[in-house]
Amino acid sequence: MLVLGIETSCDETAAAVVGAGGHLHSSIIASQAALHERYGGVVPELASRHHLERLLPVIDVALREAGVTWSGLGGIAVTRGPGLVGALAVGMATAKALAFVHELPFVGVNHLEGHLFANAIGSGTLPARALALIVSGAHTDLMLVEEPHRYTVLGRTRDDAAGEAFDKVARAMGLGYPGGPVLDRLGQGGDPSLAPLPIPMQDGGLDFSFSGVKTAALRALAAHPDPAPEFLAGLAASLQRVVADALVGRVARAAREHHPSGILLAGGVAANSVLRRRLGEEAARLGLPVLIPPADLCTDNAAMIAACGASRLTRGERGSWALDVVSDFPL
Ligand code: KG4
Ligand code: ZN
Repeated sequence: MLVLGIETSCDETAAAVVGAGGHLHSSIIASQAALHERYGGVVPELASRHHLERLLPVIDVALREAGVTWSGLGGIAVTRGPGLVGALAVGMATAKALAFVHELPFVGVNHLEGHLFANAIGSGTLPARALALIVSGAHTDLMLVEEPHRYTVLGRTRDDAAGEAFDKVARAMGLGYPGGPVLDRLGQGGDPSLAPLPIPMQDGGLDFSFSGVKTAALRALAAHPDPAPEFLAGLAASLQRVVADALVGRVARAAREHHPSGILLAGGVAANSVLRRRLGEEAARLGLPVLIPPADLCTDNAAMIAACGASRLTRGERGSWALDVVSDFPL
């Protein structure tokens, strides 16, 4: 079954076509990052208006690149939440209208489950009993995938998400928005010992906390009013190292406690080179297989929504015409 995925939860207008076995036929992303950059973050009203302008053209290109017409599709999957309500509503209303006109089934997808399903592209499914770490701009969740579509949450952040901490420190460093990718590049040649930071929350079971390390990084920055480039590179390296250590440390603890079949990484911060490397090393130490999506499928995209939707549609799930969007939609 070929499924059209639609993603408009934040500042990427995206459409994709995914087929049987999670085969990726097309994935189009129109990023609004340049539009929001001058405000240092996403302006919800602007995001909605731009989704409205760009979504149909983006869908058009996704279908053309996939070489598929409406009659060749088996269904539509759309992000239902969590995210910005106005932005989500544009995607939902568009998906319903298209489903209605073309007489296709549609299904609403949880954006976080969508991130997990970036790991199903190429296979169509997620491994059962896998330990999953979802790290994005708004979430840091550790969970057990009991089976596809059934999850047990093991831990989550008690304050800032990891991506949020990266974005806030990057903004104070004058690196623009979103800050994660810039910090990643800047830190590559950096010496972390030039800006030592504490490892975030060592206790607290399987929960996370990143506001303390964010504040420590902001203080270190304030103590260097005219920072040398080496200091900034060192701070970027140091921040990524301690955040990755905290994330990987929890994964290792959860693996010892829950004996998973493997490890899944997902969410925008999964594009981070330090985290990818350190999680790979830890998985090898634990003797567990690890799945990490290619970097362009870690950040927001519609292929992951289509992959998740395809799995749900195949199980017979159908969205109703009354389906609403949900800003806070736990998995
Ligand atoms: O999943 P995502 O695209 O959107 C949300 O659902 O939140 O995640 C966006 C987050 C932002 O905080 C961004 O700075 C971060 O992912 N990010 C990165 C990298 N690429 C994106 N953080 C660190 N290193 C990266 N390479
Ligand atoms: Zn996301």
